[in-house]
Amino acid sequence: MATTPSTYLGRFPTTRMRRNRRFAWSRELVRENRLSVSDLIWPLFIRDGRGVREPVASMPQVDRLSVDLVVEAVAEAVELGIPVVALFPATDPAKKTPGAEEAWNPENLVCTAVRAIKERFGQKIGVLCDVALDPYTSHGHDGLLENGYVVNDPTLDALCKQAVVQAEAGCDIIAPSDMMDGRIGAVRNALDEHNFEQVLIMSYAAKYASAFYGPFRDAVGSAASLGGGDKKTYQMDPGNGDEALREVALDLDEGADMVMVKPGMPYLDLVWRVKAAFGVPTFAYQVSGEYAMLCAAAQRGWLDHDRVMLESLLGFKRAGADGVLTYFARDAARALATQGK
Ligand code: PBG
Repeated sequence: MATTPSTYLGRFPTTRMRRNRRFAWSRELVRENRLSVSDLIWPLFIRDGRGVREPVASMPQVDRLSVDLVVEAVAEAVELGIPVVALFPATDPAKKTPGAEEAWNPENLVCTAVRAIKERFGQKIGVLCDVALDPYTSHGHDGLLENGYVVNDPTLDALCKQAVVQAEAGCDIIAPSDMMDGRIGAVRNALDEHNFEQVLIMSYAAKYASAFYGPFRDAVGSAASLGGGDKKTYQMDPGNGDEALREVALDLDEGADMVMVKPGMPYLDLVWRVKAAFGVPTFAYQVSGEYAMLCAAAQRGWLDHDRVMLESLLGFKRAGADGVLTYFARDAARALATQGK
């Protein structure tokens, strides 16, 4: 991570900042931050069936894939050197219930996909699974609902069951994204009790109640379930920054191995503050709405797709992120590979 510049700032005309910028080689030489394929985590959406590829309307180039095609996508990720894929299920609405029981069905889409991926690729790639109930609840909330309120402690038990079946399927990184209080400690305990003390936890520690999740909720079908509802009683208020540091401190104390700030671009100040305050592995999620925004402008010819993609990802690195969850991961990996040639 970058350090504070010295107090020596120089003076024109002896100092000319443009000298270092004159040639490609000198710009390369003094570049402070770089994006590499090892910074990328690629989220993938899973649906049922075989040989099915169903586009997500609000996310160009992103599809819901049946498990066999998810495995093919992971083969590409391995080929490109992407270190981790993140799996999200688009659950058949008929399997959604108020109690989210499908979340801990060992035969659910996520567990089936994890087993298929691990069988074929072993530790050539890491698999991250979200822990939250929203893909499985008929009301679309991340937790259990009682009298219209998402109840914290009963939700923890459900999240632990979900985390354990995912670990049993072979998941390497459990990523709780639900924002219940105490969930990291509860999930860590549950994993340890089932002899999964080696399974990592990446906590969605500072996760905001954001409008930028819209296309994701279309992709997994939770928007329809949620109706006009919002998640403001558990996700953070976009006006708060100090509170994010407190969330991160609690999650680290409860055993998180890595933490995440989400969304990404509108919250880069938090990436910086978290990295500076704790110095732990810190990730950012360039969420679906950020992806949709950049792609939409590129489709209209208003922005250059590859250049804004790489610039936005480099921005995360400059802000101190150790890596980025991004729907651009495959495109960015390809662009980086050709740049290197
Ligand atoms: C589920 C979850 C969400 C995202 C990741 N995990 C949506 C939400 O909280 O409503 C959003 C990802 C994105 O927008 O790309 N808890």
